[in-house]
Amino acid sequence: MQAVDPLRNTPPSYIREILSVVASNDVISLAGGLPCPDSFPMTIIDTAMRDIACDKSLFQYAATSGYEPLINTIRERYHVTDSQEVLITNGSQQGIDLCTRVFINKGDNIVAEAPSYLGALQIFSIAEANLSTVDQENDGPNIQQLETYFIQGDVSFFYAIPDFHNPTGCCWSLEKRQQVADLCTRYEVLLIEDSPYREMRFSGDSLPTVASLCPEYAISLFSFSKVIAPGLRIGALITPTRYASSFNKLKQATDLHTNVPLQALTHAILNHTDFTTHLAATNQRYQTRYQALVTAITKNPVYEKCTMVPVDGGMFIWLILPDCDVYTVARTAIENGVAVVPSTEFYSNKTEKAAALRINFSYNTPEKIEEGIRRLGDVLEEYIG
Ligand SMILES: Cc1ncc(COP(=O)(O)O)c(C=O)c1O
Repeated sequence: MQAVDPLRNTPPSYIREILSVVASNDVISLAGGLPCPDSFPMTIIDTAMRDIACDKSLFQYAATSGYEPLINTIRERYHVTDSQEVLITNGSQQGIDLCTRVFINKGDNIVAEAPSYLGALQIFSIAEANLSTVDQENDGPNIQQLETYFIQGDVSFFYAIPDFHNPTGCCWSLEKRQQVADLCTRYEVLLIEDSPYREMRFSGDSLPTVASLCPEYAISLFSFSKVIAPGLRIGALITPTRYASSFNKLKQATDLHTNVPLQALTHAILNHTDFTTHLAATNQRYQTRYQALVTAITKNPVYEKCTMVPVDGGMFIWLILPDCDVYTVARTAIENGVAVVPSTEFYSNKTEKAAALRINFSYNTPEKIEEGIRRLGDVLEEYIG
């Protein structure tokens, strides 16, 4: 017996595969999207876990939509309106999967930015969706291309990451947010706004979510993986009320509900008096690491041939290289003791890509980032020097 065709035809995640190689070698990984473990709020977790361990009701089967106190916290935190509902998910990843399974029949059209999040591309491929892409510019998606798809009238949804995009780190301008919201409203196309990095801002001013500019035509996905810890697997999906029963039915059939003790833990952490300080300290730490990365790149002349767009938050930068075989560059980099992700991994059509590398700055210390960039520089010297 074989696995179904779409599963066999969808490659495994390059990042997850190289992470296992990296873990066993003396390789500095600038590849994964791991938060820094020293940023996990362990003191708050320790006390909250003890309280949870005393409450039997948290260990019973429970409501599919989620733990009510957490839902209420999310309603307040993300300004959820009376015409929207919240569903607690196993991370933003499950949110993308649920959206795909609620709205996509085989062959239906999805539009996404190019490049885009690998985990979403995998889901769309397994669903056998027809994926079209719009170019990502420094301030957001190419609006003309987006409208061309929307005019055709058969787009099921537009999947996008407007805040500190994975992989590029791009943050959409206010103008682009408004333009996309207007297009979604005019052509009645749903936006799936994936925002796991939105709160990881260390400079500049926060901009409104695109969903807040077109709430009737948007589903928002939030995650506590980056602001608390990814092992919790807690996220939230906010939907216009008209789709809530479909999401609930699908979630019920998928896993009944998300783990209740960890929902209660998330609720306790979000409401802890030290949470705001924790988040500010995490962002400060990431800013220091980002600056170490920028300094290391600036110091090494080989990087003058590359382009790096500065970021105000998130966990990644996108280093654009002169035309070269980025896959080979990334493979050689691992042999030289540093892992980065080649741009090819973030495109559904591997030939449409720009030559670039995604570089993470959240996980390693400034010293390791500096050494990783030095090792990468030696490899670049060979290929583009
Ligand atoms: C854009 C994007 N969406 C979703 C996810 C999945 O996050 P979660 O841990 O919330 O499932 C990630 C993880 O890195 C991501 O980068």
